[in-house]
Amino acid sequence: KKDGFASFMEKEINDQPDAVAQTLLGRNDGNGNLTLDELRVDPEVLKTINKIIVLACGTSAYAGQVAKYAIEHWCRIPTEVELSHEFRYRDPIVDEKTLIVSISQSGETMDTLMAVRYAREQGAKTVSICNTNGSTIPRESDAVLYTHAGPEIAVASTKAFLAQITATYLLGLYLAQLRGNLFQGQIKDILAELAKTPAKIATVIANAGQIKDLAHSMAETRTVLFLGRHVGYPVAMEGALKLKELAYIHAEGFAAGELKHGPIALIEEGQAVIVVVPSPRGRDSLHAKVVSNIQEVRARGAKTIVIAEEGDESVREFAEHVFYIPETSTLLAPLLATVPLQIFALELATAKGYDVDQPRNLAKSVTVE
Ligand code: M6R
Repeated sequence: KKDGFASFMEKEINDQPDAVAQTLLGRNDGNGNLTLDELRVDPEVLKTINKIIVLACGTSAYAGQVAKYAIEHWCRIPTEVELSHEFRYRDPIVDEKTLIVSISQSGETMDTLMAVRYAREQGAKTVSICNTNGSTIPRESDAVLYTHAGPEIAVASTKAFLAQITATYLLGLYLAQLRGNLFQGQIKDILAELAKTPAKIATVIANAGQIKDLAHSMAETRTVLFLGRHVGYPVAMEGALKLKELAYIHAEGFAAGELKHGPIALIEEGQAVIVVVPSPRGRDSLHAKVVSNIQEVRARGAKTIVIAEEGDESVREFAEHVFYIPETSTLLAPLLATVPLQIFALELATAKGYDVDQPRNLAKSVTVE
């Protein structure tokens, strides 16, 4: 069942090109028209929604955070992301013009199920993004958009995460198409770019030798910080979560801009900092800002490990280690940038001799509140 891999997690990381390709399959006609037939919410209703709330936990919530950047950019619909277990207890503002998008690999996470039930009672329309056919959350939602990542066995989520991000892109593009926020040509271009990501993910996996060696050399590390900005921020948090779950190492993901507001006090000689750098071809001064954050931590003695886009030479002089990922647009980059972080956590945990498929204290689906 592990197809010759040492663990389910390793297999599932290697399944990722296929997981993304399967999630994209059959959902556009090649001309920039999205066909989300399963999404049985009346298109007229979707045109009237004025707010999206994404509900999820753990890794699925980080997929939701990536979705926020994409959906707000493409659809101009205000989008909030909330941990399911926080949502219900704060008297949230939800009505029939709210679209709830729940994200759950298992479809059985009790916190998310209860949040979806609550939102539905308040009159919201609910769409579930889910990897498990026929599970409870999709059954209790108005509509479902299945991710087709295949069964995920390892407790730590990997391929489901990339498939969830892919599904939220499709949902965002569908809403943009329906509401006329993007031209058909723009949607077609983004879909064409998305169609190239499975091969690029395969390239990242094939070139992971260096990151594996680095992970093995860091088995004694006690704490790792992850920095990212824009969509790199949820990627950083996901990288930190993987390391906590698998290697039992203290890890924190920060928004890079937040460094000077506190976390930079943690930096001392030898502190490992992994930085997710946005594309230098992206908008605004995002790239320059992150590069200056690398300089700031480096100047204080940090061991800097950088994930950057192929050809980005500007990071070399401040990075002890650079791992390059193929070029893509800023919004789609999480599909690539996450992969080296998953491999890093897997290899570090392996170096420490831990069971990467069944980390201590964790269950694959959390069916209690
Ligand atoms: O099945 P779900 O996507 O609803 O699960 C949510 C979280 O419990 C899950 O992502 C958890 O954080 C994983 N262990 C992450 O690797």
